[in-house]
Amino acid sequence: MLKTVYSDAADNASIYQQIPKLLFLFCTAISFYWLLPFLHGLFIAPTRNVPGPLLARLTRWFEYRVVQKGDSHQEYIRLHQKHGSVVRVGPNRYSFSDPTAVKTIYELGSKFLKSDYYNPILHPVPALQNIFAMRDPELHKARRRKVANLYTMSTMVSYEPAVDKLNRVCLRKLREFAAEDRVVDIPQFIQYYAFDVIGEITLNHSFSMMENTHDPTGMIADIKIGLNTLALNGLIPSLIPLSLLSARLFGSHNALHVLSTLTRDVVDKNRASNAKQNVIGPASFLQKLLQMEGEGRVDMSNIMDATGSNVRAGSDTTAITLSSALYYLYTNETALGALRTEIEMLEREGRLSDPVTWSEAQSMPFLQAVLKESLRMHPAVGAMLPRVVPKGGVRLAGTYFPEGTQVGANAWAVHYNKDIYGPDADEFKPERWLGVKDGGGDVRDSMMMAFGAGSRTCIGKNISLLEMTKVIPQIVRNFDIVPDGDDGVMKTHTKWFVFTKWNARLKIRGGT
Ligand code: HEM
Ligand SMILES: *[C@@H]1O[C@H](CO)[C@@H](O)[C@H](O)[C@H]1NC(C)=O
Ligand SMILES: *[C@@H]1O[C@H](CO)[C@@H](O)[C@H](O)[C@H]1NC(C)=O
Ligand SMILES: *[C@@H]1O[C@H](CO)[C@@H](O)[C@H](O)[C@H]1NC(C)=O
Repeated sequence: MLKTVYSDAADNASIYQQIPKLLFLFCTAISFYWLLPFLHGLFIAPTRNVPGPLLARLTRWFEYRVVQKGDSHQEYIRLHQKHGSVVRVGPNRYSFSDPTAVKTIYELGSKFLKSDYYNPILHPVPALQNIFAMRDPELHKARRRKVANLYTMSTMVSYEPAVDKLNRVCLRKLREFAAEDRVVDIPQFIQYYAFDVIGEITLNHSFSMMENTHDPTGMIADIKIGLNTLALNGLIPSLIPLSLLSARLFGSHNALHVLSTLTRDVVDKNRASNAKQNVIGPASFLQKLLQMEGEGRVDMSNIMDATGSNVRAGSDTTAITLSSALYYLYTNETALGALRTEIEMLEREGRLSDPVTWSEAQSMPFLQAVLKESLRMHPAVGAMLPRVVPKGGVRLAGTYFPEGTQVGANAWAVHYNKDIYGPDADEFKPERWLGVKDGGGDVRDSMMMAFGAGSRTCIGKNISLLEMTKVIPQIVRNFDIVPDGDDGVMKTHTKWFVFTKWNARLKIRGGT
């Protein structure tokens, strides 16, 4: 008996003997990886005087916690209001809201590459990386050049029948909701709308989410998991291998799987029917790609990337912008009235079809202003778009930032900057855009970050404008939308996108 007890104690003692050694190793690691960089950042680094929360000096955990809370887009605005146009948001991570600095970071042909923040959605094999996350500037340029002609203004005309088709479904469903006097989660229905439309444009295949008022594919939830991983794990890239491993072990996300299986299926069907007859008339995005494949200009990995990127990057973003535009319009009688006046005037002059065409929408200044103001008030991406300071470092807003520093801007902080947009930056004022020319050099225009900026700016901008400028007039013509519950307040939840929630009842105009 005694003997056993004795030998147990001896075992424990041998573990205890290890503790000082482990403690020493632990402290050494902490000093090298954390304490020394921290002291350097506090006393020596040229960025030591950049203001920001104390915790942000110590650890990335500060920003991680902010994102996890779900209101990071507002927190970024508050940080800039408190600390000024440059804020330290983490060790070696800085957010800017000053036009000159923002312009330098994102300028076309910029040497400021996307940071390791994008690693959670970056494939290890360069050829299989998606256009959105890939880092190498030459690879990216080549990839983008291959498909750029599928996103031009003139190409939009060929996607118009797809949009019209789904707009008819949308209006029919809204009429049903009105007839039933149903309380509708507007952002959710619009999300179904946006997925269906991008499916129809991209693959000539609607996902039938509006018809089902439900996502039968499961891709919405899966894409959301992918985005949350980006928003959170992107802040701690050194832990990404661990999270990838756990995702694999516990099978937590298969977003790519649902969509790619569906895409392969549709591709095969289209290949077969293309072989039978030459496509005449407006071809879908996919058929254009298949024609390019026939000419040897793209391969299957390009097809999977382009179609997948459209669905993943082009659905939630468009839905969030569109439903916010509806919210801002329908909670402001003046703005809604002004848009209806524009529509009715053009109708009387015989210059507006039903449905409104893409080309007619270009000559609706107030409609364009409504969209632009919605993109300003509610940019879909709520995160900072981080870039890396190139070799040689850079001077931004009066401070020298060494090579390797992560710098960037958050669209919300920029769009609510009163130095740029004036004291009424918090108000939905479409009229501020009347007379401001796109790309005309006005700083308010050049600081619009909803679609990102520079060489990595959104490739799908024209497609989202096609959808939104066509459907908004149709909804405004036919419906009143009355927010219901929550005092009519639009709630938000942010990780990478700024999702919204508000309920409403619909009333058919001129009806009962
Ligand atoms: C209102 C709607 C949209 C918004 C607000 C939006 C926003 C953005 C933003 C902010 C970026 C840059 C992100 C970064 O720097 O990390 C981006 C990139 C991208 N977007 Fe969009 N987007 C929208 C619609 C679309 C649509 C409809 C498509 C496709 C049909 C699309 C496809 C892409 C792609 C492929 C990229 C990566 C481009 C590159 O890196 O070259 N987006 N988008
Ligand atoms: C939108 O269309 C215009 C005009 O065709 C084109 O110059 C522009 O590059 C397009 N935008 C994108 C992001 O492709
Ligand atoms: C799209 O698919 C439908 C069947 O759903 C087919 O009748 C039509 O020809 C296709 N359109 C294009 C442009 O391929
Ligand atoms: C409502 O819209 C009008 C006209 O577009 C605008 O001037 C006003 O600032 C808006 N009100 C609010 C509270 O956003």
